[in-house]
Amino acid sequence: MSDDSRPPQAGATIAVVIPAAGRGVRLGPGAPKALRTLNGTPMLIHAVRAMAASRAVSLVVVVAPPDGAAEVKTLLDAHALPGGSPAGGTDFLVVPGGDTRQESVRLGLDALPPGIDLVLVHDAARPLVPVDTVDAVIGAVRAGAPAVVPAMPLADTVKQVGPAGEPGAPEPVVATPERALLRAVQTPQGFDRATLVRAHETVTDDVTDDAGMVERLGVPVVVVPGHEEAFKVTRPLDLVLAEAVLARRRANDGF
Ligand code: CTP
Ligand code: MG
Repeated sequence: MSDDSRPPQAGATIAVVIPAAGRGVRLGPGAPKALRTLNGTPMLIHAVRAMAASRAVSLVVVVAPPDGAAEVKTLLDAHALPGGSPAGGTDFLVVPGGDTRQESVRLGLDALPPGIDLVLVHDAARPLVPVDTVDAVIGAVRAGAPAVVPAMPLADTVKQVGPAGEPGAPEPVVATPERALLRAVQTPQGFDRATLVRAHETVTDDVTDDAGMVERLGVPVVVVPGHEEAFKVTRPLDLVLAEAVLARRRANDGF
């Protein structure tokens, strides 16, 4: 695997903000989504490990459910995390989140110490992203892109619809964008820190990803290849898929 690969750029000062404060309404009743387990380990811990697996990452800021910050701190202490050595290891911070993902990310950014020049934002709900994808995003930001998103081509054709004539009636299709030009975006998304902070200070529209906020500033955003294992755990079937991916990894490399 990538164990002997070098970080994208030695000396980079990189932090990851992990928004993990959502309830997970679409997953159904239960604990906050990030604390639900995959093969016995909380999704958030898988996500934190995926980030700390990149040697370029020096700090991980977890944005916890507002009433769950203490529980999250306990979880992080209880689980062995890579890079824990005092020299060159990964530091961890936990802050309480907000009502929207956007607000949670902003609270995470507010907690960053000086000296961080590159920030990744990674959903706790994407616990299985491979480290090579993380390093590809970091590499592209280090190469000069102010904003980088990992993305996948679409399997399904996408239709744009208009409002239904009356509630419950079929929605009319108004357009079919050319599928080859569309990408489904994932995380971690990587940014020049100052650019992302400016986006969060100035963009107030509802946007579902951080790169979308940077786009509104008129700053260019680029795409690097994503990975099928970086899918977002959203609905119950995604839990089944995530545990299957973990089982396949175990079978393949004894991890
Ligand atoms: N998130 C957050 N703060 C919020 C809402 C979401 O930190 N107020 C985080 C989630 O914890 C998740 C990521 O943003 O890691 C992506 O959001 P999503 O997958 O939509 O998670 P939820 O909002 O928890 O799920 P749902 O929309 O089904 O309620
Ligand atoms: Mg949500």
